Amino acid sequence: METPPKTGSDQKGVIQPRPMRGFVKTDRVEALTSRALNYVRAGFPVHFRGPTGAGKTTLALHIAHKLKQPVVLIHGDDQFTTADLVGKKDGYRYSKVVDEFVRGVSKTNESMHHNWLENRLTTAVRYGYTLLYDEFTRSRPEANNILLSVLQEGILDLPTGGTSGEQFIKVHPKFCALFTSNPEEYAGVHKTQDALLDRMVTLDIGHYDFDTETKIIAAKSNLEENEAQRIVHIARALRASGDFGHLPTIRGCIMVAKAAKRHKQAEILRDSKMFRQICHDVFIAEIARNENRKEREKIEKVLIKAIDKHARKTGLLSSLF
Ligand SMILES: Nc1ncnc2c1ncn2[C@@H]1O[C@H](COP(=O)(O)OP(=O)(O)OP(=O)(O)O)[C@@H](O)[C@H]1O
Ligand SMILES: [Mg+2]
Repeated sequence: METPPKTGSDQKGVIQPRPMRGFVKTDRVEALTSRALNYVRAGFPVHFRGPTGAGKTTLALHIAHKLKQPVVLIHGDDQFTTADLVGKKDGYRYSKVVDEFVRGVSKTNESMHHNWLENRLTTAVRYGYTLLYDEFTRSRPEANNILLSVLQEGILDLPTGGTSGEQFIKVHPKFCALFTSNPEEYAGVHKTQDALLDRMVTLDIGHYDFDTETKIIAAKSNLEENEAQRIVHIARALRASGDFGHLPTIRGCIMVAKAAKRHKQAEILRDSKMFRQICHDVFIAEIARNENRKEREKIEKVLIKAIDKHARKTGLLSSLF
């Protein structure tokens, strides 16, 4: 086993996880955290799969923090090759020693070495760090194949030869891996190889429950919880209508909440029209990914109904503005 440099943060791409400010812990979040930690400690990689904005990356970072070891973060990328994960030979190092120890006699020693540029997966495997591979299905399966032997046999192959020509590295016992991905129907995402999925525990996480969404929105926007609740109701009504390809996410809810809070503070408009406008701008753009007028009108109808039901009648509009 190799000893890591004294401070992991001195290494390229290595971060020391810190507790996230404003991280919301509810029963659902705690339950997911303890399930995931249990699998990781039992030696299994954990994969969070769920729609955009479900909270996968935030949860994975939280778990990485709980594991109390340096983290290597990789974001999946369609352009990645195996070398982007593992490392590659990067030019040569040439050295020449001229020895003139005995006068008139000189001995020359010339040598040429490959320089090895180590990438993040190798660093994590070598020193026993946590690998957080965010959106790993954005990388092509060919690039991710290298993970198969890491997760199964505990060996990282270095096809081109690593530092001083090493052909493989034994995975450090402290190495662990967390993955996140969006479901396969999302644009820009590749189908995951079954062989890779078989080697990890996949936890499917949908949108958080009502209480968690409310608390996250309130924490992020500083709105009162009862105000945040109304925004969650509106987003849920849109999700429940079931007619649309894209659904409002917690990110959209946070945007609505922050914009509403800003208007409330700045007292720019004490007019309920403003809240409607914010919901319109954020949610319709999130759900309708094109300018198809018919689809936008359909969404608008559901949105107006939801605002009337959950905001106006419960006094949200007057409390916000
Ligand atoms: N437990 C939590 N506490 C506080 N904020 C949270 C929590 N979970 C999620 N969030 C917030 O919700 C938003 C979406 O979360 P996140 O980015 O983790 O989602 P994701 O599932 O990774 O989305 P994507 O698939 O688009 O990457 C972020 O603004 C994040 O800060
Ligand atoms: Mg994410």
